Amino acid sequence: MSGFFKSSIGRKVAMALSAFFLMIFLLQHFVINLLSVFSADAFNEASHFMGTNPLIQFVMQPILIFGVVFHFVMGFVLEIKNKKARQVSYVSNNGNANSTWMSRNMIYSGAAILAFIVLHFIDFWIPEINHKYIAFLPEDPTRYFGELHHKFENPIRVGAYVIAFVFLALHLLHGFTSAFQSVGATAGRKKTMKDIGKAYAILIPLGFIFIALYHHLNH
Ligand code: HEM
Repeated sequence: MSGFFKSSIGRKVAMALSAFFLMIFLLQHFVINLLSVFSADAFNEASHFMGTNPLIQFVMQPILIFGVVFHFVMGFVLEIKNKKARQVSYVSNNGNANSTWMSRNMIYSGAAILAFIVLHFIDFWIPEINHKYIAFLPEDPTRYFGELHHKFENPIRVGAYVIAFVFLALHLLHGFTSAFQSVGATAGRKKTMKDIGKAYAILIPLGFIFIALYHHLNH
């Protein structure tokens, strides 16, 4: 197993698999957040379920946190290894996919998303952990909508979120193609995969921007 992570292709596959996992998480996160635009009750119900279900809290949540940390650590390792490899010789066998501006800058868009995650955890995750597991505040199943809505009152926070979502789109735009390539899923169905990837990479961040602006403008 350690040999797998030591090989360049092993690291790329691990990176791709963690990326797919995070993309699935992001999709469900988006769907639940989108409920907040259509129905406060539906959003409260979904959030209460996610926030109190033991399987979600004590199995899925730790797996998710591990996935996020793994993806970032592996991303930085890959970047450093690639930089070192390039000092010797630049090996390009992916044609244009290896040399676009975004592919060279995955580390920067990734770092911007990491900065966002820190802010996002301070905004939502830490208060949530505090509420449930530190301060043991009573659970009100209708509290979630108001908490979210309130966060988007501050225009500076909304601006920071919107900028982060633009970086997220850039990261996903290259990440999707790259991840499919790393697991060898492009042959034959290359165009369909690319189209799905592009649609996901643009629509999900755009949807998040919409949610943030919706709450901000409805204050
Ligand atoms: C308008 C956009 C967004 C809103 C309103 C939002 C809202 C929330 C809320 C309310 C939570 C707390 C869940 C809980 O622990 O009870 C949360 C957690 C989280 N969010 Fe977001 N989010 C947004 C965008 C994003 C994006 C774009 C990402 C990833 C790039 C992200 C990643 C996470 C992660 C990793 C957690 C921690 C999940 C957990 O373990 O509970 N969020 N978000």
